[in-house]
Amino acid sequence: MNVVETREQLAAARAAARGTVAVVMTMGALHEGHAALLRTARAEADTVLLTIFVNPLQFAPGEDFDRYPRTLEADLALAREAGVDIAFTPTPQVMYPQGPPAVRVDPGPAADQLEGASRPGFFHGVLTVVNKLFQLTRPDVAYFGEKDYQQLGMIRAMVRDFDLPIDVRGVPTVREPDGLALSSRNRYLAPAERQAALVLSRALRKAAQAPEPVAAGVAEFATEPQVKLDYFVLTDPMLGPAPAHGPARLLTAAWVGGTRLIDNIEVQLP
Ligand code: PAF
Repeated sequence: MNVVETREQLAAARAAARGTVAVVMTMGALHEGHAALLRTARAEADTVLLTIFVNPLQFAPGEDFDRYPRTLEADLALAREAGVDIAFTPTPQVMYPQGPPAVRVDPGPAADQLEGASRPGFFHGVLTVVNKLFQLTRPDVAYFGEKDYQQLGMIRAMVRDFDLPIDVRGVPTVREPDGLALSSRNRYLAPAERQAALVLSRALRKAAQAPEPVAAGVAEFATEPQVKLDYFVLTDPMLGPAPAHGPARLLTAAWVGGTRLIDNIEVQLP
């Protein structure tokens, strides 16, 4: 595996890459969910390029940028194991040589709901860095996790609206045996909080079976006083208004102590 840190090193590695090039973008603290993205990329592309960059632009003041887990050595070991060819690990100076960029991607009105409503500026930061990483890595295909379902939709919309020649593929969420969706932020949870956090996946599962999904999900959250619900919504698969029947999506976000977690599942409305 070729580990590169500068733009020049990346350009040389990219120029030597053969066949279909896949990119998996991450902020590090890699877990089995990232490994699933990398393994899918490995199975479907000739060259697998991983990026590891904790993007300051997508954290609001007071969020967890400073304490976000940075575990580069372990990340590179996982990447090697997953068959990554090139790992790009830039510093903020490499990504933003002029400092925070004045020009940013406007995510449009779809970013005013859900994560964007709770975290203003988040999708400006995400789409700006994803766009920059697309320019730098020039992939044919890019893999993102369905755990960040709205993010996946926003990236697809950017690729469509900016005519980027990239095939964006979603990969299903990986869960612990007890249902907890894997997230780099799970490592913030104390044991009692981790137990309480199970309410997210439990509420989604119960709601998916209930005649009134949102009411059922919200009621399940009420059984877990340690967890503060942010939102629990039913939408169509594109995050538009909930359909009367057919495929739909349930999405939730909640605070478990000082940790904000998100999760979602696909649902078939009868
Ligand atoms: O999902 C993430 O880890 C980040 O939002 C991403 C896509 C790597 C952009 O920083």
